[in-house]
Amino acid sequence: MGSKKFKLAVLVSGQGTNLQALIDQIEQEVLAAEISIVISNVKEAFALERAKNHGIKSHFLDRKSYSGKAEFDQALIDLLQAEAVDLICLAGFMRILGKAFINSFAGKIINIHPSLLPAFPGLHPQRQALEHGVKFSGCTVHFVDEGVDSGPIILQSVVPVYDSDDEETLSRRILEQEHDIYPRAVQLLVEDRLTVSERKVTQKKN
Ligand code: GAR
Repeated sequence: MGSKKFKLAVLVSGQGTNLQALIDQIEQEVLAAEISIVISNVKEAFALERAKNHGIKSHFLDRKSYSGKAEFDQALIDLLQAEAVDLICLAGFMRILGKAFINSFAGKIINIHPSLLPAFPGLHPQRQALEHGVKFSGCTVHFVDEGVDSGPIILQSVVPVYDSDDEETLSRRILEQEHDIYPRAVQLLVEDRLTVSERKVTQKKN
């Protein structure tokens, strides 16, 4: 009998390349976890197809079926509690989660964002970076708190910004790094290697 697997839920809204990176690292046994459920708030999200292709349970949660944001968040809480997941990974999930959700899974929600936070939180961070004229950008994996892209930072990766870049070329360069750091951040949590003190996340030594 193997030991109990670390269970992930992955929340998505779009193409799901970060979900795919997690699936690939699990299948290659680099990431010692299993994905219990993939949940999307967008019916057509290709991420749902990726889950199905790998035999992972997937679920579309329609905001329109709920009277308000609180009711939608509660449905999400119920789904995730029923799965008894160890960690919730937001992977291109384009909804802001309310206080009740955050409190239900304190310290167990992480997100990936395509900028070097705290620069350029919110929507279109790659466009914000280009418009600001920064020479480097990148991506950040962080714990989720009640703010927008504001929680303690776990890992970051830096990419150069070239004069010739547009939103698409910069996004692609950043995305490549996302696929590297997101599974690595999850594995740090699997191994219980992180200590959080106020804003500061440090890695325990072996
Ligand atoms: C990724 O770039 C992710 O960092 C970003 O959405 C994209 C999803 O791509 N997330 C956010 O902007 C959240 N604030 P994917 O669906 O291919 O993983």
